[in-house]
Amino acid sequence: MFNSNNNVFEPFEKKVYLSSPTPHIEGMDYIREAYDTNWLSTVGANIDAIEEDIASKVGCKYAVGLASGTAALHMCARLAGIKPGDKIFSSDMTFDATVNPMVYEGADPVFIDTEYDTWCMDPVALEEAFRLYPEVKVVVCANLYGTPAKLDEIRDICSRHGAALIEDAAESLGATYKGRQTGTFGDYNAISFNGNKIITGSAGGMFLTDSIDDANKVRKWSTQSRENAPWYQHEELGYNYRISNIIAGFIRGQIPYLDEHIAAKKTIYMRYKEAFADLPVTMNPYDEVNSEPNFWLSCIMVNEDAMCRQVRSERDALFTAEPGKSCPTEILNAIGSINAEGRPIWKPMHMQPIYRNCGFVTREGNGRATTNAYINGGQVGKDGRPLDVGMDIFDRGLCLPSDNKMTESQQDRIIQVVRACFE
Ligand SMILES: Cc1ncc(COP(=O)(O)O)c(C=O)c1O
Repeated sequence: MFNSNNNVFEPFEKKVYLSSPTPHIEGMDYIREAYDTNWLSTVGANIDAIEEDIASKVGCKYAVGLASGTAALHMCARLAGIKPGDKIFSSDMTFDATVNPMVYEGADPVFIDTEYDTWCMDPVALEEAFRLYPEVKVVVCANLYGTPAKLDEIRDICSRHGAALIEDAAESLGATYKGRQTGTFGDYNAISFNGNKIITGSAGGMFLTDSIDDANKVRKWSTQSRENAPWYQHEELGYNYRISNIIAGFIRGQIPYLDEHIAAKKTIYMRYKEAFADLPVTMNPYDEVNSEPNFWLSCIMVNEDAMCRQVRSERDALFTAEPGKSCPTEILNAIGSINAEGRPIWKPMHMQPIYRNCGFVTREGNGRATTNAYINGGQVGKDGRPLDVGMDIFDRGLCLPSDNKMTESQQDRIIQVVRACFE
């Protein structure tokens, strides 16, 4: 395969993924046990075990196994009492499942810009948002790519403004902030076991809480709100959101390996970091004093002065190769050409057609949608940096193959391919 500088790299015979499942054989034993005992539905020993294991790992009192992280976030939205037309604040640079469940309840989201230190919600922009919309009572904050947001600051701002915090820890299971596990900072918390997550059931999620009342509500709502009666008795709206005992078995087999998965992800991150130390790029950052991410995805961002020209429309991207410079589109093409999987940074929600008419708040007030924040000279703040930080990171950043089954020699070839883009 040739990259734009005519370097030749052999493609991998077997694709190297961004982040694929890493199952363990014990999972098959638990699934087998479910089969043999005929506990094949949404009740059973595997569900009980993963709820106990995750609660004890994370350090919360109750964990409720659900069909997905999205379902868990929907339960959070219901508990937070979101009503149609309510404005809520949401992380902007995240997967859309952070905010969609709020909109299921009729929320009108206002997106809060990102900061450069963690690539998560900017507390300065959040404070500014409360100045603009003091009536807001719910904030949903995601820990992007397994990196804890500035959770203390965000927690404190929510408390001062009487707003509930929903922590979307879908990507950050096992990450800690000031020694405490993510998924415990919100009034309501969600994690995901989706197929690409650090532990996966192929699907699945969990609601985490210290409140027995909230745990019980979620248990009830997620099983069609069945009342305790001899017949199907329903007094509230319900959902079919409970996790299956088969999927729970698959998850159960991986939980003892969570720390091992994280260590493998960290090694990948550190190897990229070292290999790119002399390139004009930076890794996705984290607060090295206060936090320990789970390093779910390793990402890089190209320095502003090393960006070649790149133009993105709604669905396509083009770039012009330039010696010594590169851009995410070129790097992603090069990675793809050797049968490996990278991915653009999650495109900010305020730039998504579905959410483009929603509010968007930057550290300096109401923002506006800007395509190509960096290249086309979008709005610049008082500090001279792009005001739309999320779009700047989206323009210049990308996710690298971060699969923890990737061998060192495979990673080395990916590193060579990325380096060649800057020749
Ligand atoms: C940040 C974030 N929030 C929510 C979700 C939703 O989780 P799930 O796919 O399990 O519904 C995901 C992952 O898919 C995610 O990455």
